[in-house]
Amino acid sequence: MKPASEERSAPADVAREEFRSRAVSLDLPRLLTREQHRIHLVGVAGSGMSGLAALLIEFGHTVSGSDKVSTTETNRLQRLGLRFYEQHRREHADPADLVVFSSAIKNDNPVLVSGRDSGKPVVRRAEALAAIMTAKRGVVIAGMHGKTTTSAMTAHVLREGGLHPSHYVGAEIQILGTNAHWDPRGDYFVAEGDESDGTLRCFHPEHCLILNIEEEHLDFYADLAAIEKVFASLVEQTAGKVFYNIDDPNTARLCAKRKNTISFGFSDEADYRGGDVKLNAFSSDFRVYLREQKLGEAVLNVPGPHNVHNALGVIALAVELGIPFEKIAASLRKFEHARRRFEIKYESERFLLVDDYAHHPTEIRATLKTARATGRKRVLAMFQPHRYSRTKALCTWFGSAFDDADRVVVTDVYPASEPPIPGISGQTIVDEIVKCGHRAASYQPRFERVHWDIGNALGGGDIVLSLGAGNIHEQLSILAADLVIAEKLQAIVGEGDVRLYEPLSKHTTLRVGGPAQFWVEPQSEDAFAQLIRFCRDENLPLFVMGRGSNLLVRDGGIRGVVIHPSGGDFDKIEVNGSEITAGTGVKLREVAYAARAANLGGLEWMEGIPGVVGGGLRMNAGAMGAQTFENVTRIRYLDSEGNPHVKNRDELEVFYRQFPLLENNFAISATFRAEPAERTKIDSRLRESQEKRRTTQPIAKSAGCIFKNPDSIPAGKLVDELGLKNSRVGNARVSEVHGNFIVNDGEATAADMLQLIENIKSVARTKRGIDLETEVQIVGESE
Ligand code: EPU
Repeated sequence: MKPASEERSAPADVAREEFRSRAVSLDLPRLLTREQHRIHLVGVAGSGMSGLAALLIEFGHTVSGSDKVSTTETNRLQRLGLRFYEQHRREHADPADLVVFSSAIKNDNPVLVSGRDSGKPVVRRAEALAAIMTAKRGVVIAGMHGKTTTSAMTAHVLREGGLHPSHYVGAEIQILGTNAHWDPRGDYFVAEGDESDGTLRCFHPEHCLILNIEEEHLDFYADLAAIEKVFASLVEQTAGKVFYNIDDPNTARLCAKRKNTISFGFSDEADYRGGDVKLNAFSSDFRVYLREQKLGEAVLNVPGPHNVHNALGVIALAVELGIPFEKIAASLRKFEHARRRFEIKYESERFLLVDDYAHHPTEIRATLKTARATGRKRVLAMFQPHRYSRTKALCTWFGSAFDDADRVVVTDVYPASEPPIPGISGQTIVDEIVKCGHRAASYQPRFERVHWDIGNALGGGDIVLSLGAGNIHEQLSILAADLVIAEKLQAIVGEGDVRLYEPLSKHTTLRVGGPAQFWVEPQSEDAFAQLIRFCRDENLPLFVMGRGSNLLVRDGGIRGVVIHPSGGDFDKIEVNGSEITAGTGVKLREVAYAARAANLGGLEWMEGIPGVVGGGLRMNAGAMGAQTFENVTRIRYLDSEGNPHVKNRDELEVFYRQFPLLENNFAISATFRAEPAERTKIDSRLRESQEKRRTTQPIAKSAGCIFKNPDSIPAGKLVDELGLKNSRVGNARVSEVHGNFIVNDGEATAADMLQLIENIKSVARTKRGIDLETEVQIVGESE
């Protein structure tokens, strides 16, 4: 079978041939801006490529594109007419007259290969962009850091100044509407120039603006000299003025020799000079001078001193293009950031969450400084290194970039299509940060857990940043969504504690378990009732947890709200005659000792139970042959609507280690009946219980007895007889002291525990025909 391309009709072949012969001396500017063609973009989802696609569609070309992922940008472009393929196939090149490819595309990409094989013109993104630029008076914004913000600011100021500029910027820009737009009315075309792949050389603009030059993209460049060479070409190829940041030594060195330059910055030498800068939380005020002459005051509506620098460049350019300073100042006051540039994701009185694209040490330092200047209490940062090559090349710089953060969590490297470099990971950066003396930096290799680490460390007054050019912002978005709920929970519990992603290993006696999405400590029955109603209305799962003594929480933690009723109403204990009423958060042991203080006996067995009243009721816990409901006279609880009820013992259905009512209702308090007794008798029974525990049970991290006692034999005895003591999975081990206890020897996981439980059950079943049932409550999500 012939390849599809060869089967096309003769007239199409003729047209193609004509085109090919023209392509030998390709007039790309004409082809792109004055004719209409079929153009295919390889890697169209990239931030630069999607802008180019938008421009080409505006020119009236028939545009198709392929990428391995679809994004909101490709969706938007499809609505404008892009024909999008979510994979790269040879045949996509067939109908195209021209193929444009992104620098991220590898040489063996099938569309690229077929485009080249068929001899049709194949050009880089920057070549196409440079060709488009020739149709207007080009302004290229270049530099290592800040060029997206500065290009957007330039286009905005020129637009507000009535110049109708066209623009091309490497990110979504709300204030401009889109990342790229062709405005036939205006003369200027403002474009962000990308230095990462050397294609800055393609541009021959009328003016250029250079922000800063330093080591970056060392996967592509050998060294700083190689980088400077590319910038030097841009400067040489600029016909008109070169605007440059005089405060950046590399930039100043490169540009100072050239004629027709305009400098900007804070240096006394600067043509356009900033002074009296006042940094506010989300904006900056400063004065602008043109050499000796004061131009006026400016208020820039984005924060950070680095942005004042960027704005000075924009002011210099705009003034030179003839826009009055007052107009420029008015535009800067209105300017809004590009997406992912100090973008506020969540803001309340207590918390501020900001996402930023910073991925180079200089950018991180600037962004953290800006965060610090917001005046919030602490700065917490989650950082995702971008590219293995950058992580390796700049790791020592990264080490000192986090001084302004109080806490840093580093995730693994976002590869951006690079293969891993052995030995390079997020840990590399943490090691460097620690070397610089930082004491609160940690590595979280599991991306989906980064928000746990930061969220749990969060306190009122903090600012949180997500930093990186990959997808770390997704983790901040999850945190932001959960904070919305956390703040509502906080409003309900008032003084009570609300924590995000609280590790339940801290709250279980076994010291095992993932986090609670929302950990809430109400202090009153009313707050508890409101929480129940809130969870119902918001469709949030609700789980109540006491001391966690009979609980095995899986490693994925508990989704939804975990209510821990302790303190306030729930810790109250009252003795009335021979009755003791205790809140759900009171330890059973305290009930036993309150009884002793009032010379009441019969509750001594409670001394041996590590749980609280709520847990004791829920499980009808027992020891020394006694069980909870033998002593209960009545309980108070809330139903699933949050309404209170009181029930006497005779109205309650109770079984061995099971009290069904509390499966869907929530204990508030219980009243226990005791008997007047002599103190010496009480003490001797307490001692007996203590002695029993001391001699038969392990002193180790455990959840008490794991299995219910089967009718035929106590579970501990059975496990013992089966020879399973000391058997283990990971750090979970069957106690040698008591066969019905599994102990945590160190960092045991719930998965270890569960596997060991399964092993025991399976042996009991095969060897003795006994089906062991767990007494311990197993909850939460597996990983
Ligand atoms: N036994 C063995 N080998 C062992 C463990 C026990 O032979 O490794 C024998 C004991 O010698 C005894 C029998 O098994 O003859 C029962 O053992 P034990 O007296 O320790 O009581 P248990 O039934 O295992 C119960 C409660 C404990 C409570 C104790 C003490 C259950 C499932 N467990 O244990 O409660 O502390 O009595 O009163 O009812 C808990 O529920 O979490 C808990 C620790």
